[in-house]
Amino acid sequence: MTRRVWSVLKAGAAIAIAALAVAAGAEAFRAPAQESAPAVGAYEAPVDVDTAGLPGPRQPIFYRHDIHAGQYEIDCRYCHSTAEISSSPGLPTVASCYGCHVIVGSGNPEVQKVRDANTSGEPIEWVEVHSLPQFVRFPHMRHVVNGEIECQECHGEVQRMPQVYQFASLKMGWCLSCHERSTYADNPERQVTTDCTVCHY
Ligand code: HEC
Ligand code: HEC
Ligand code: HEC
Ligand code: HEC
Ligand code: HEC
Repeated sequence: MTRRVWSVLKAGAAIAIAALAVAAGAEAFRAPAQESAPAVGAYEAPVDVDTAGLPGPRQPIFYRHDIHAGQYEIDCRYCHSTAEISSSPGLPTVASCYGCHVIVGSGNPEVQKVRDANTSGEPIEWVEVHSLPQFVRFPHMRHVVNGEIECQECHGEVQRMPQVYQFASLKMGWCLSCHERSTYADNPERQVTTDCTVCHY
């Protein structure tokens, strides 16, 4: 089984356990809460982080990729679930955060914000990190599925970032230099297009 499938299963199991614990009522709450965290991998995210010194925009909740995707190895696609089928990978809903945080993270004021958002039904207003100009077309699914390019190649080691920042320049020259040295999955003889109209509306 690939690492990716494992990670999704681990995350899924955490939610299933969380749901069971809730169903079992408050008595059973404490013990399963320990088990409900996904299995810990080799990497441990740092506990004390100097938030003032972190690159990238400050978010309304201090959501940490290094804890979720790094330490607990939750797959990128678990939260960015449309990366393989759509131009945009999408962001997770409050409900998907709450699936774990109904139990995990009690007493943490940042987690409390997740719970408050779930109660109020207000979406979390995440600050955009990446933004191409309106006149550029960038289809994630083509890169991730056909191109088989790892998220990290374009986004850096996100699973080690306490706060996400823009890793690549996202300039036209960056796109072109990769297209010039890549071929199509369904036709390894053919170099990936550098035709203006494919990237520009
Ligand atoms: C548990 C959910 C979760 C997982 C797992 C996760 N992310 Fe995210 N990701 C988020 C949330 C929430 C945001 C928005 C807040 C932020 O930018 O930190 C985000 C933001 C991002 C952004 C910036 C989006 C923008 O505004 O431009 C990138 C890039 C990203 N994630 C990549 C990844 C990659 C790569 C992985 C796997 C290594 C991953 N994410 C795993 C929840 C997740
Ligand atoms: C698959 C389960 C899972 C999902 C889904 C999940 N988390 Fe977490 N989260 C965890 C675990 C495990 C921890 C670590 C808790 C600990 O160390 O006590 C954590 C920790 C946190 C923390 C505290 C970080 C710190 O500084 O210690 C915040 C804030 C948080 N998560 C926000 C979110 C948000 C926002 C989402 C949705 C985008 C989300 N989580 C989705 C499992 C999950
Ligand atoms: C070939 C480079 C490349 C790869 C591979 C890639 N991304 Fe991106 N990603 C981008 C670019 C460029 C943007 C900015 C898109 C825009 O502004 O329209 C972006 C934006 C995002 C965003 C911001 C949300 C949005 O809809 O704009 C998220 C989240 C994200 N990527 C996650 C991922 C994840 C998860 C993977 C792996 C499954 C991945 N990306 C693979 C280049 C890439
Ligand atoms: C790391 C390499 C890499 C980078 C960086 C990259 N691409 Fe691509 N791109 C590919 C590959 C490989 C394919 C072809 C995938 C396939 O279909 O086999 C592709 C395909 C595309 C397609 C579809 C082409 C077609 O023939 O329909 C568009 C549009 C595109 N890329 C836009 C962009 C834009 C815009 C950027 C920069 C913001 C970018 N790409 C950056 C590797 C890359
Ligand atoms: C692989 C994708 C891709 C292709 C092919 C491509 N561009 Fe671009 N182009 C971009 C991206 C991404 C930007 C926005 C980032 C930037 O300004 O560098 C951009 C920006 C531009 C801009 C605005 C620059 C500015 O300074 O505001 C012009 C003009 C432009 N492209 C013209 C072209 C022409 C003409 C062609 C064909 C010869 C072409 N592009 C082919 C991705 C592409």
